[in-house]
Amino acid sequence: MSAQQSMEEVTVPRDGYDFVVVSNRLPVDRDVDEAGNSSWRRSPGGLVSALAPVMAQRDGAWVGWHGAPDETLEPFDHDVFHLVPVMLSELEVKRYYEGFSNATLWPLYHDVIASPEFHRTWWYAYRRVNERFARMAAETASQGATVWVQDYQLQLVPRMLRRLRPDVTIGFFNHIPFPPTEIFSQLPWRRAVLDGLTGADLIGFQRPGDAQNFQRCVRKYLGVQFTKGAAQFSESTAEGTDTTWTVNAGSYPISIDVDSIKELADSPEVQARAREIREELGNPETIFLGVDRLDYTKGIGHRIKAYGELLHDGELSVADSVLIQVASPSRERVDSYRQLRELVEGMVGRINGQHDTISHTAIRYLHHGYPFEEMVALYLAADVMLVTALRDGMNLVAKEYVAARRDRSGALVLSEFTGAAEQLRQAVLVNPHDIDGLKEAMLYARDMPRAEARKRMASMRRQVLTHDVVDWSQRFLADLAGHARAGRDTPADAATGAAEHGSSDRGSHDE
Ligand code: G6P
Repeated sequence: MSAQQSMEEVTVPRDGYDFVVVSNRLPVDRDVDEAGNSSWRRSPGGLVSALAPVMAQRDGAWVGWHGAPDETLEPFDHDVFHLVPVMLSELEVKRYYEGFSNATLWPLYHDVIASPEFHRTWWYAYRRVNERFARMAAETASQGATVWVQDYQLQLVPRMLRRLRPDVTIGFFNHIPFPPTEIFSQLPWRRAVLDGLTGADLIGFQRPGDAQNFQRCVRKYLGVQFTKGAAQFSESTAEGTDTTWTVNAGSYPISIDVDSIKELADSPEVQARAREIREELGNPETIFLGVDRLDYTKGIGHRIKAYGELLHDGELSVADSVLIQVASPSRERVDSYRQLRELVEGMVGRINGQHDTISHTAIRYLHHGYPFEEMVALYLAADVMLVTALRDGMNLVAKEYVAARRDRSGALVLSEFTGAAEQLRQAVLVNPHDIDGLKEAMLYARDMPRAEARKRMASMRRQVLTHDVVDWSQRFLADLAGHARAGRDTPADAATGAAEHGSSDRGSHDE
């Protein structure tokens, strides 16, 4: 049975929501106190802060997983959000989330830094879970609503949702890179993924290069050509009538919640904490800082290697410099993440063992998540921020550091393989694979004349302060509304869609 036949239209709910966000995780985290009582807290992060006002204004709902396996929760309200929890079984968490999302797609979309694994059982679970999300969204959206689907975990949702609810306007945003055709081609289910995505009216990517990669893949595997960022698609419904729509694809680089960072950076408590951090470290001349999820895409090993060599070469000493590396725990049950932790912790242990003195430590390695206040205090305390990702859709840490540096001091070493590097041109840009180049850049950032540092930081701040995450969401949603108005009701004979353009790819794999 094809996906199309299995997805019958759903009845439009009478008390549905006008604006629906669909993402793998709900925008809340659960706290459990000592007595076992649980409560919800809004998750930190730009996406959640950007969409909260839209939710409040537009009668919004958010469909997503609440983070615990095998638990069914009824929809509930929390601050401005109406939350619709999606149930995932323990096996689905293994196969859809840890497996297909994070051990197939994640490495495939990040330059195959780790080897992607391809398992049919993971794919079936991905498809089944995407169907569940699509159905929940279809049962939540009001007539003619706007539904905004987020990220690589849910790439099949747009087309599934369009089949269930042809009346809604569908946006999709890919927060991670979209790979070049040569890499995407490895995916046994490449056509099905492209079919899924092209159910949307607008697909947003971080960089123009990601949008181009996507358009090339669509041309190659679906036989549909984009012209000026738009392409026509059509499909036959179960009743045999044709439906047609226009898919637009473009770049919408995401940003951060600038106001909340500025507010924290201005707060006397956070500033006092930044001074305290420096004092506790013995007031070193230079604090280098890395802040990442413990992920192999972040180039943490490359950074630590460069730092260790600088200590070994005598360019840095533990008496005058320290590297603080915050590595927040992530996807800990996925093999490649376990291996990375071993690798990084082994490196830190060796370097510290070799260079530490009783009073000084080379690398302060912190395998914890911290409250946002503490992160901003770290940004204020650090002289040089190190962002050395091997591939990163955007990297918001780089933008957060810039937003926090209100006095325009500090230097940012930034990998050219991040989306952020396209906007923060005044950073000290590096190729993290080039360890000598990285070492030079770290020393250059440390020794940069004050006037040059201020000039660079001022220019980066201008960029970040004038392009915050609210601008990002407004731009995407305005374009989505515009494209949807223009793209519906395209005459059927003008459409050239996947249905007409079979590709040479073997369909059976994709079903
Ligand atoms: C990246 C992805 C997000 C994801 C986040 C945390 O930023 O783009 O979709 O939510 O990492 O990863 P996790 O697997 O914990 O949700």
